[in-house]
Amino acid sequence: MARNDPVPSTVLVTGGAGFIGSHACVELLDHGYEVIVVDNYSNSAPQVLTRVERIAGRFVGAVYELDIRDRRALSAVFDRHDVDAVVHFAALKSVSDSLRRPVEYYDTNVGGTTALLRAMHEHGVHRLVFSSSCAVYGEAGPGPLDETTVPRPANPYAASKRLCEEVLADVCRRRPEYTVVCLRYFNPAGAHPSGLLGEDPRGTPDNLMPRLAQVAAGHQEFLRVFGDDYPTRDGTAIRDYLHVMDTVEAHRLALDHLTDAPGMHVYNLGLGRGSSVLEVLAAFSEAAGRTVPYAMAPRRPGDVAELVADATAVTRAWGWRPALTLADMCRDAWRFQRLNPRGYAGSDRRPKPKEC
Ligand code: NAD
Ligand code: WQD
Repeated sequence: MARNDPVPSTVLVTGGAGFIGSHACVELLDHGYEVIVVDNYSNSAPQVLTRVERIAGRFVGAVYELDIRDRRALSAVFDRHDVDAVVHFAALKSVSDSLRRPVEYYDTNVGGTTALLRAMHEHGVHRLVFSSSCAVYGEAGPGPLDETTVPRPANPYAASKRLCEEVLADVCRRRPEYTVVCLRYFNPAGAHPSGLLGEDPRGTPDNLMPRLAQVAAGHQEFLRVFGDDYPTRDGTAIRDYLHVMDTVEAHRLALDHLTDAPGMHVYNLGLGRGSSVLEVLAAFSEAAGRTVPYAMAPRRPGDVAELVADATAVTRAWGWRPALTLADMCRDAWRFQRLNPRGYAGSDRRPKPKEC
């Protein structure tokens, strides 16, 4: 690869204790990056970072418990560390919650991103990998969606992600020193193959895979399948599920390529293949070695029939191709559930994180 600048080596990971962020920390540590984490633990727990270090066999450089909207605290992190690039996961992510609390979503997701941008700007940091979402496409389907699909965000969560994209694109247009890679993930799922890291949101999970795990473990009686009257092959909604390990590999590749070309680069992340809710249920039952009970329920408000990625652009750009299948996602999510029946609660304590 022809590059003039060195590959960024110290990476600030916002939301590094979360589902995707924690797996990304392992991936970055495994590939020689120094990792600094900021997180307010609003949807995670500090113990996860002990597990990240256990898997990677290396320490996270520093961990700060702070809210990314706290400009002074964030600025102090940039004062203390020579950050080369930022991977920005920290956000609120539930569509249904965003319908109830739109102001919180705009404040955290958009306000948090502009607060981060300001701190980066003031400290001469111009490289960012941003977590976006297939949610920005709204009701654009059916058929594989590529990045030229016109976004039509249909709820405050999706709109907040789209607004962030617009802010970042505009900054890149006006300031040539910025490079931003914006990754629109479809449906990340699964867990680290060690069984030490997985998806452990606070409260009842919204997403299909963690719910399936809870039902299979007997914590919930049955899975409610939201809608069996969609115009799909079996009547249930189709999504493009992507293993979290493949997802975070793409982030590491994004960092490796941040010095290739300035400006804003937008890529979809998905398998390019959809699975219906009943197909995921069957795959999970197979992985768990037990039948997962379910009942048909009405459509969930705001759901669309089908969302599948055309992710060929990122393959062309960096050669990234997902290696893991739906069966792998189910196997790993089930392993995490079995080994951590109460999630991270009560597990290995991490010393109280530093505060700015
Ligand atoms: P997550 O909730 O597990 O992780 C987000 C992390 O950010 C959590 O640790 C949370 O405590 C932290 N956080 C939230 N608000 C914060 C704040 N104000 N200050 C500091 N930390 C804060 O979510 P995830 O699934 O890991 O998602 C990571 C990112 O990917 C999010 O931006 C999300 O919108 C995006 N995304 C997720 C999915 C998905 O299905 N999981 C799909 C597409 C996009
Ligand atoms: C998948 C399918 C449900 C739970 C969400 C966000 C999206 C992105 C990914 C962040 C749907 C069905 C679910 C259940 C069910 N996240 N389902 N019973 O809604 O595709 O996408 O996560 O950016 O923005 O909207 O994911 O896992 O919630 O649902 O039948 O108990 O499973 O209706 O068809 P979704 P999901």
